[in-house]
Amino acid sequence: NSRNSWVMRARILSFDADPGDGDTPAEGSVVYHEDGALWWEAGRIRAVGSWQELTDRLPADVSVIDQRDKLVMPGFIDSHVHYVQLDIMASYGRQLLDWLNEYTFPEECRFAQREHAEQMADAFLDELMRVGTTTAQVFCSSHPNSVDAFFSASRRRDLCMLAGKVLMDRHAPPELTDDTLGGIHDTERLIAEWHGTGRLGYSVTPRFAPTSSREQLDAAGGLLRNDDSLWLQTHLSENLGELDWVAELFPDSRDYLEVYEKSHLVGPRSTFAHGIHLDDGMRRRLAERGANIAFCPSSNLFLGSGLFDRAAARDTRLNLTLASDIGAGTDLSGLATLKAGYQVGQLRGQPLTAWAGFHALTRGNAVSLSLDDRIGRLAPGMEADFVVLDLHASPLLARRMARCTSLAEELFTLMMLGDDRAVHETWAGGRLQHRRQP
Ligand code: GUN
Ligand code: ZN
Repeated sequence: NSRNSWVMRARILSFDADPGDGDTPAEGSVVYHEDGALWWEAGRIRAVGSWQELTDRLPADVSVIDQRDKLVMPGFIDSHVHYVQLDIMASYGRQLLDWLNEYTFPEECRFAQREHAEQMADAFLDELMRVGTTTAQVFCSSHPNSVDAFFSASRRRDLCMLAGKVLMDRHAPPELTDDTLGGIHDTERLIAEWHGTGRLGYSVTPRFAPTSSREQLDAAGGLLRNDDSLWLQTHLSENLGELDWVAELFPDSRDYLEVYEKSHLVGPRSTFAHGIHLDDGMRRRLAERGANIAFCPSSNLFLGSGLFDRAAARDTRLNLTLASDIGAGTDLSGLATLKAGYQVGQLRGQPLTAWAGFHALTRGNAVSLSLDDRIGRLAPGMEADFVVLDLHASPLLARRMARCTSLAEELFTLMMLGDDRAVHETWAGGRLQHRRQP
């Protein structure tokens, strides 16, 4: 039809507020339509409701897609992931600092070639679509080329993506290290070209404290001060060896977080990956500035970094996001991230409910990343990014679902047993981006 107007009839689930950590979601947080309708036009949602309610309001020429047996949710959001590490996932052995030197840095050197970066950006986005992740905050490599390649590919698909060029001016191979201010100038060029273009946003990306001089961290903070619409992404307190190294490199800072505070890198649009080894004082300082910690459970388990303390984060009102952190993460799928998050929680006596999990993956991540004016919910005016889930995608899943007697049980089963087979379709910007081949 000429207006590009579509309606999908399906089970529809979205969150209007945080459901909390209890077995029963907070009142008013869950929006669920058993026989629902999602109507979108030219990339934006027009209305969501029960099929009965909505049918009268639909234009005569709307195209109807009947998926009554499927469950539709907002597209999943991954708050911290390295597209340049896709090909080193599952590289055996050891902890963070050795893993960086042995696998990560050599791999990132390959992104000096534009053609390689272009191939990898497409391969990565194909994978994201296969797992129903429609938005991610992405580390590229130090090469500006790698950012151009990623943003170009995202723009062609009309995806909402945040990304940035890694800043490193020391303690990495020469092919990856910036001239201190050269890296900042490259960043300025990339911001001018990409930030706010289509659905793209720029995230200033100092890798972590050990690989940037104080001068480079300060200059990164200067970029943020000049433009408060920019994002920031880095790593914080992931590994004990890393902590010792930071203490040695920055003897003037009383703790790891203060290294970033001194350079004005801690604000409401800042995401710090990991944050495993923090005390309550640091958690409160992060919370006061509205910064968020990306909990990356499969990565934390893979590198043996530690068991993230979600209860301490909640008690100090720290904003949390949920992330895969590929390539240390072992799965790109949001469902797999929830499963690993549940397992980490079990070992801490803090099990993750399906309500809290699916909220975190959708609206929760959108709120913490300041993207909730555009994505994260199925509601009028929001951008039309959503995932169509098949809860009977495998024989085992179908068997187990047949035993479920409530939506809560179905969702928990999905987060523990689901994988990319459960992602029937992925839509973003109102366009079909992926359909599973049977
Ligand atoms: N800390 C600094 N760089 C990295 C990285 O690439 N992956 C992880 N997991 N931690 C880091
Ligand atoms: Zn990371």
